[in-house]
Amino acid sequence: MVQRNPCIANIKTAYLFPEIARRRREYAAAHPGVRIISLGVGNTTEPVFPHTGGGLSAGAAALAASETYTGYGDEQGLTALREKIAAVLYKGMVAADEVFISDGAKCDIGRLQLLFGAGTQAAVQDPSYPVYVDGSVLIGAAGGAIQGAVYRGLTYLPCVEENNYFPDLDLIPPNGLVYFCSPNNPTGVVSDRKQLAALIEAVRGKGSIIIFDAAYCEYIRDPALPRSIYEIEGAKSCAIEVNSFSKSAGFTGVRLGWSVVPKDLTYVSGESVNADWNRICTTIFNGASNIAQAGGLAALDDEGLKETRALTDFYLGNAKLIRGALRRLEISCVGGDNSPYIWAHFPGRDSWDVFSEILEKCQVVCTPGAGFGPTGQDFIRFSAFGHRADVEEACTRLGNLKQGTQKINR
Ligand SMILES: Cc1ncc(COP(=O)(O)O)c(C=O)c1O
Repeated sequence: MVQRNPCIANIKTAYLFPEIARRRREYAAAHPGVRIISLGVGNTTEPVFPHTGGGLSAGAAALAASETYTGYGDEQGLTALREKIAAVLYKGMVAADEVFISDGAKCDIGRLQLLFGAGTQAAVQDPSYPVYVDGSVLIGAAGGAIQGAVYRGLTYLPCVEENNYFPDLDLIPPNGLVYFCSPNNPTGVVSDRKQLAALIEAVRGKGSIIIFDAAYCEYIRDPALPRSIYEIEGAKSCAIEVNSFSKSAGFTGVRLGWSVVPKDLTYVSGESVNADWNRICTTIFNGASNIAQAGGLAALDDEGLKETRALTDFYLGNAKLIRGALRRLEISCVGGDNSPYIWAHFPGRDSWDVFSEILEKCQVVCTPGAGFGPTGQDFIRFSAFGHRADVEEACTRLGNLKQGTQKINR
């Protein structure tokens, strides 16, 4: 018999979203006919806008004609798309051959770990998007669990109200990785330029590397806030950025993203990280779908950029409604102004209990903060991805918590 990879056995909790889905199914089975509304997962709900959708259609049509058919493309992505991302989104701050097209940010976060292997210390913001932790566990870099899903080999960087959701940089391990997400999932908080400059300085001083997840940068409305780590001096020598068309163009199911791996970035041995990433892309990734890439090109046309703005404005409108509903209940929360997530505080409560209470009283699904790390224990994440009528209805139903607010918000 073949042995199971021991790293898989090391993943301690069922993955967050399947567990939420299980509880939702159980509730629905026990309450037939009740309409449950989800403000839980970060899945997009609105259709792809026409210009970008036209790019996808044209990409599909090209495959059906012998004159325009293409098979495998470059593993790193279409040159035209790499150039357009470098020019339009990064305004030349990065070069086209530093941009690698992927099938999504999550997939790249998993594959990037292959660059560093099991022996590298990693630090994660606490709370954080679960893939940074689970991916580290799978590659063997997290060590064993000490309690629940907290791992001995990982460094947790608490991001809490007391530190304005920005971590103590002294905790960053030397010669290691720092996963950093801004706008943050789940808190919705965006780090400012000064904070990112301090992060870069700390990371460079320690010989570490930042994996910067900017999947929600198109939600930033405050022009003073940085949308890319490369807006900050020194980032190209210490940071990889992952990004995605999922939440900006509605490509969650299309699957298209990219990573920027600067040529200045080296390991302690002096070897090039960019060259190794190129090797990984060509070895175990065979390039993103050519249909998806045709859609990506359209999304970066002037018309496509307007569509991105309209789509993200729509979800930000939802976020405003949710924030308003929570504030009416006097539940303190952050996020939702430059991001589609709202992080709501229920001091002293267990987040899975609050999850159940919201499901039972309001028939609304949210995400328990405990799934994002130890400091999420008494928080709930609300997602602004949803149809407007559903979000409005969910906000009305959240009013049902009023009677219990004393209990919830003690
Ligand atoms: C912070 C963050 N990064 C990456 C992703 C996944 O992006 P993609 O759909 O491109 O894999 C998500 C999805 O929710 C996310 O929240």
